[in-house]
Amino acid sequence: MNSRIVLITGASSGIGAAAAEYLMKKGFHVYGTSRKVSGNIDEIKARDNLSGGFIRMIPMDVTDDESVDKGIKFILEKEGRIDILISNAGSGIAGSVEDVSMEEARVQFDVNFFGTLRVIKAVLPVMRSQGEGRIIAVSSVAGVISIPYQAHYSSSKYAVEGLAEALRYEAAPFGIKVCIVEPGDTRTGFTSNRVIAANATEDSPYYERFRRSLARMEKDEQNGPSPEDVARMIFRMVMKKNPPVRTTVGFQYKLILFLKKILPGSILEKVVGLLYN
Ligand SMILES: NC(=O)c1ccc[n+]([C@@H]2O[C@H](COP(=O)([O-])OP(=O)(O)OC[C@H]3O[C@@H](n4cnc5c(N)ncnc54)[C@H](OP(=O)(O)O)[C@@H]3O)[C@@H](O)[C@H]2O)c1
Repeated sequence: MNSRIVLITGASSGIGAAAAEYLMKKGFHVYGTSRKVSGNIDEIKARDNLSGGFIRMIPMDVTDDESVDKGIKFILEKEGRIDILISNAGSGIAGSVEDVSMEEARVQFDVNFFGTLRVIKAVLPVMRSQGEGRIIAVSSVAGVISIPYQAHYSSSKYAVEGLAEALRYEAAPFGIKVCIVEPGDTRTGFTSNRVIAANATEDSPYYERFRRSLARMEKDEQNGPSPEDVARMIFRMVMKKNPPVRTTVGFQYKLILFLKKILPGSILEKVVGLLYN
């Protein structure tokens, strides 16, 4: 059962790396992706675990059709199937709506939304022909509540949520289960990998507020829960017979999203404004 084949995009660091490790220890056969894996794809060695699980890192850039197709083809040649996709690769850009250029916005959507879409489209025919499969999209609490100076990141994750929600209906008749995992601030490389908009400089009228907001966010991320906490939740969604459409990681974030449902919008807006603006 646990020797199922898992594809995790963005498994070189943070949440993806933790999920790969966790699933390997449970005996899963994990193919993790990174843009940094070099060398011949066929010569890449697997890390084995006593449980029978392994992690094999393969090169993949989720913004590139050819790279995604090559990675999927490689796994199919080796294993003949892909049981679970954890679409996790992602990045963040920070800056005000006015300061983030159209090109920077496009790059953000290219990785977080179109990257997710591209890999999902590549595995769907495989899972459909198997008559079963599972797709877990790693979104964010920011995919439900938008935060100032993170508009593009939030929008890209809102888009991922919309995609996964609709796909859940479409894929179910083919035995494919789709769900969303929403981490809150998590201690990973995400903070240092975040791109700052080129125009978010001292000349920007948003600069002071932007810097304060970003500093708060960076602090919350670096003091946040470990990626292993998210990995455990991903594992639960892998194992659950009928995973719910979305699962938030961490009590405080579950509470925030619950409050979003029950509080008038104006109160939530005040709280987010106080914290991040
Ligand atoms: N950390 C947080 O606070 C937090 C909160 C909510 C949601 N999330 C989400 O969790 C996911 C994982 O983030 P993380 O926190 O683990 O960040 P991370 O440590 O920076 O890891 C990001 C991963 O994504 C990969 N990646 C980035 N761009 C890629 C591309 N174009 N093609 C392929 N892979 C790419 C990176 O791989 P390479 O650079 O090796 O290619 C890396 O493995 C993201 O979707 C993020 O939005 C994070």
